[in-house]
Amino acid sequence: MKLQILSSGLLVGLASAGLATRARQVADCLGDHDVPVKWENSPDYAELAEPFNLRLAYKPKVIVLPTTDQHVQDAVKCAHECGLKVQARSGGHSYASFSSGGQDGSVVINLQGLHEVSLDTNTNVAKVGGGVRLGNLAQGVWDQGKRAISHGTCPGVGIGGHFTHGGYGHTSRNWGIALDHIVALDVVLADGTLVKADSTSNSDLYWALRGAADSFGIITSFYLRTQAAPESVTYFSFQWADKLYGKQEDFTNTFLHLQEVSLNKSVIDNRISYGIYLDGTKTYNLGGTFFGTPEEFNSTILPEILRSVPTPNNTIVQDYGWIDYLKLMSDINNIVMPLEGYDEHDTFFAKSITVPEKDGGLTKDTLDAFYDYIHAGAPIDYFVIINLYGGPGSAINTKDTTFAAYADRDSLWVFQNYGKTDKQEGIDFVNGINDVIVNAQPETHFGAYLNYVDPSYSREQAHELYYGTELASSLQQLKSKWDPQATFWNPQSFE
Ligand SMILES: Cc1cc2nc3c(=O)[nH]c(=O)nc-3n(C[C@H](O)[C@H](O)[C@H](O)COP(=O)(O)OP(=O)(O)OC[C@H]3O[C@@H](n4cnc5c(N)ncnc54)[C@H](O)[C@@H]3O)c2cc1C
Ligand SMILES: *[C@@H]1O[C@H](CO)[C@@H](O)[C@H](O)[C@H]1NC(C)=O
Ligand SMILES: *[C@@H]1O[C@H](CO)[C@@H](O)[C@H](O)[C@H]1NC(C)=O
Ligand SMILES: *[C@@H]1O[C@H](CO)[C@@H](O)[C@H](O)[C@H]1NC(C)=O
Repeated sequence: MKLQILSSGLLVGLASAGLATRARQVADCLGDHDVPVKWENSPDYAELAEPFNLRLAYKPKVIVLPTTDQHVQDAVKCAHECGLKVQARSGGHSYASFSSGGQDGSVVINLQGLHEVSLDTNTNVAKVGGGVRLGNLAQGVWDQGKRAISHGTCPGVGIGGHFTHGGYGHTSRNWGIALDHIVALDVVLADGTLVKADSTSNSDLYWALRGAADSFGIITSFYLRTQAAPESVTYFSFQWADKLYGKQEDFTNTFLHLQEVSLNKSVIDNRISYGIYLDGTKTYNLGGTFFGTPEEFNSTILPEILRSVPTPNNTIVQDYGWIDYLKLMSDINNIVMPLEGYDEHDTFFAKSITVPEKDGGLTKDTLDAFYDYIHAGAPIDYFVIINLYGGPGSAINTKDTTFAAYADRDSLWVFQNYGKTDKQEGIDFVNGINDVIVNAQPETHFGAYLNYVDPSYSREQAHELYYGTELASSLQQLKSKWDPQATFWNPQSFE
């Protein structure tokens, strides 16, 4: 009341008094419910607040460390009642640090204490806590029943972001993306209630969470169908080193050939997966996985891949048992990550391009323009990974947007353009890779991949690129039903 008399600086006074009151209220509320939390003055706060991407280090108002679903419910209810924004943090690997709120002053709910992995060996469905990292998930379902799940390769990535925004790995063309393995979810809503979402209960929420969980709630447990882990798989790698960077036609023709092979029904089925890895202009690798033997790979696929392209400097074709294969993909000896104190980081800007299959992929002109751009040199270290999502038999593209709030079901390739930088010139260089490709094919509708979330897009651009207009508008409507005050918020969430 008194504040209103002090007319000079009135708005500032009111706003900061508002914030201080909110902080006190949320502290009281969290304290009343015995929710484990860390405030900025706690010695653990700094390390817990560090995101994977150190380029975007936001300061949460408070970090909640739940060990039960009830803690998550109480924390969300307190934040909601105090008008604060909330984001879950699972593995913390968001490219845009959205799990730190994507702004200063959010309530971050770090799910590392929800680390259960338990496989029901009758149904082969695994119940998995919202804070489990991919390596622990893979090892857990293997140990408990020789099972496997489709997901990405980095063992420190969390289930929470990865599974709810796609989730690609070399098993995806065979088994589907990570998201496709979700059969049910336990989720805490904006008002603090805990509900089950599956195809029969809260089915609209179930649909929305699989693609846009960051806008709808906090998933405390995932229920995932699993696959029998294969006895062994074949890893292959064709390494051209710097050989294809000398001449534009070597670069372009090799890619065009690989694209033709990728669309060839008599070579490609669901059992094969690969990506092309370009590290600056030093490396050009085609690497992947075949769900079959090295003998079959060598007699049917290898000759087609190598037909009419320069001979690689090095070729590897080798079979691996399941866990050894996961270790190989992760590049480490132990895929089980510590439950607390995980401390891997990078400083980077990355973005993506989804290339629709229906237009036949990339044209010669596009590849020439891409070559010219990277051949001219770069101010930073960077890499480009171009993964095959589509082609004959791909399990990724057998579903559509009626299955889940996930739009990327017709890509041939998905690019990831990743620059190790915190400087504007580095960011500009990475943006330039996207521009040169997109501008060379103005008639093609390129999109972007949700799990390589790019903070340089506005909310509207992000929704269009990630979801497309129609799907985004359905999500917008569901947002007003399930979280009308936009308690679950980041700079690109639905509002
Ligand atoms: C080193 C590295 C390797 C990667 N490899 C791959 C790969 O092989 N394949 C691939 O597809 N992607 C890959 N990615 C991208 C990765 O899939 C995304 O960054 C993913 O969203 C990270 O999940 P997270 O739980 O670690 O992220 P977080 O930063 O914890 O969360 C990301 C977003 O999801 C929300 N969220 C997290 N948990 C929950 C929950 N329980 N309920 C509701 N919302 C939640 C957060 O609030 C945030 O908005 C990689 C990323 C990195 C950094
Ligand atoms: C497709 O692959 C077969 C070999 O399995 C090959 O004979 C044929 O020429 C290929 N088609 C094209 C268009 O390259
Ligand atoms: C397959 O081909 C690769 C590359 O030529 C070779 O190194 C490997 O020994 C072959 N494997 C088999 C089983 O033929
Ligand atoms: C790859 O092979 C080419 C020609 O065969 C050679 O010029 C180049 O130096 C090789 N690159 C590496 C890194 O070995």
